[in-house]
Amino acid sequence: MYNTILTELENGTLIITINRPDKMNALNRDVVGDLGKALDEVYTNPEIRSAIITGSGEKAFVAGADISEFTSIGPDGGEAIAKRGRELVFDKIENCPKPIIAAVNGFSLGGGCELAMACHFRIASSNAKFGQPEVNLGLIPGYGGTQRLTRLVGKGRAMEMLLTADMIGADDAKAAGLVNHVVAPTDLLAKAKEILQKIHTKSPLPVAAIIACVNECADGDHHGFDKEIKRFGQCFATEDMKEGTSAFLEKRKPVFKGK
Ligand code: COA
Repeated sequence: MYNTILTELENGTLIITINRPDKMNALNRDVVGDLGKALDEVYTNPEIRSAIITGSGEKAFVAGADISEFTSIGPDGGEAIAKRGRELVFDKIENCPKPIIAAVNGFSLGGGCELAMACHFRIASSNAKFGQPEVNLGLIPGYGGTQRLTRLVGKGRAMEMLLTADMIGADDAKAAGLVNHVVAPTDLLAKAKEILQKIHTKSPLPVAAIIACVNECADGDHHGFDKEIKRFGQCFATEDMKEGTSAFLEKRKPVFKGK
């Protein structure tokens, strides 16, 4: 079904592994297409409650967009690559109502860092390295890197990473707020799965609403507070809210149905 990625559904989590280890899992046209299709599956398959994006091999998560595809295109082609990626993959990840975590297992550079940043949050193995080296190629990020990096780590740190192209290690990425947890490479997927299993015990309705609200804030939406109030109100129309509040008062565990 896919040529450049592997997918495996385990306990409601779709594990998406970018599978071009000999090319450091660089994002070429086919990878972007395959990721787009896998994300459609995440959106539409009710058996999928969450997803993990990771890279195959021990060296790279994703070492960027595939630079070999950049040599024979002009400004319109460059813009088209960035727009296609944003539409098929990056915005689709960010706006997905189901949680998507990046499990960063090595180099996360350029489009790879952007892919990790589009995910709802990130877990890194201790050997992960993050960077936006586009400036070394006479380029800038095109998959949202200038925007999402600034939101995540703040203006000063983002400027330095983007302007120097310097990589930072996993611990520095954690200190900067780029990743939430740093674990041994062998524990990476287990940690991501464990967090998602915890989220699976919640109702998917507030989970989706929380993702939308937090994205609105990160997007600088001036109506974020009003939208939160609306969504708060909408929770009261759900069976899961009635179940959650009753279960608390009855001192038992809730059984959510996603309704
Ligand atoms: N696009 C296309 N091919 C890439 C790639 C990319 N972004 N990143 C790595 N590769 C390829 C290399 O060309 C090489 O292919 P080859 O074996 O056919 O020559 C293969 O992956 C292995 O990479 P190599 O550079 O030999 O490994 P390394 O361990 O010495 O270095 C990196 C690893 C990640 C530091 C280095 O590959 C690198 O700097 N990559 C580019 C990062 C970048 O600029 N990304 C932004 C793109 S916009």
